[in-house]
Amino acid sequence: MSQTVLSIKNLAASVDGNQILKGVNLEIKAGEVHAIMGRNGSGKSTLSKVITGHPDYEITDGEIIYQGQDLSALEPHERALAGIFLAFQYPLEIPGVSNLDFLRIAYNAKRKHLDLEELDTFDFEDLIQEKLDVVKMNPAFLERSLNEGFSGGEKKRNEILQMAILEPTLSILDEIDSGLDIDALRIVSEGVNFLKNPDNATLVITHYQRLLNYIVPDHIHVMYDGKIVMSGGKELALELEEKGYDFLDEKALAAV
Ligand SMILES: Nc1ncnc2c1ncn2[C@@H]1O[C@H](COP(=O)(O)OP(=O)(O)OP(=O)(O)O)[C@@H](O)[C@H]1O
Ligand SMILES: [Mg+2]
Repeated sequence: MSQTVLSIKNLAASVDGNQILKGVNLEIKAGEVHAIMGRNGSGKSTLSKVITGHPDYEITDGEIIYQGQDLSALEPHERALAGIFLAFQYPLEIPGVSNLDFLRIAYNAKRKHLDLEELDTFDFEDLIQEKLDVVKMNPAFLERSLNEGFSGGEKKRNEILQMAILEPTLSILDEIDSGLDIDALRIVSEGVNFLKNPDNATLVITHYQRLLNYIVPDHIHVMYDGKIVMSGGKELALELEEKGYDFLDEKALAAV
């Protein structure tokens, strides 16, 4: 039996007093890929932010257990050190911080946490060359400020470079496909698939079935008004593409 990486039970969360998540249940085991789909505003990014510990979001009910540990006790950076990674829907630009320095500092923070010796600049350069290959990224991007002036697709590729460096146990990819051209979509997906192993897990948030042809999910969930209201296998994405989400309104009305 594979280990449970993430177990979310009846999770409710609010931001600025607005209840956004209203009872999410989700269980992800090691080696699995899960996808969350759902309308704009249904709470997908909110869920990713609550898992990673964004300070603006308050858990009002339920729990998030990661590798047997209640996450509410951990600060965002402690969650990251414990192996949780979020590829942002909108990656931040940080002028003045070189991409290479950012990656090295993040990587060394993890090494330190694991009681391993930190890598010096030269050794890190060797490692990064290997990781650049995973996403077929031009080394010139390492010298630039983090995400500053990167195109939408370049930012997304850089998120997966971070993932390749940090080798997370739980990767949450929030609309990693948005803004990618057809070749980049394939390359980024191949990178994600390459990083997959029996001990880690991936949660992909997407609007498009096409991504799931590349990153094939074991389970697909549909989020609606702050809850997961439907789950299924990879065929569910095709069904949703055909039907849209309107039928969920009818279901919700019928339940009242
Ligand atoms: N600070 C806030 N105050 C009020 N409402 C907020 C706040 N932050 C987020 N929301 C609302 O929470 C809801 C869920 O947002 P979220 O970003 O999780 O949606 P999403 O499912 O990721 O949508 P998309 O597919 O467009 O990315 C939205 O209606 C959003 O407007
Ligand atoms: Mg979102």
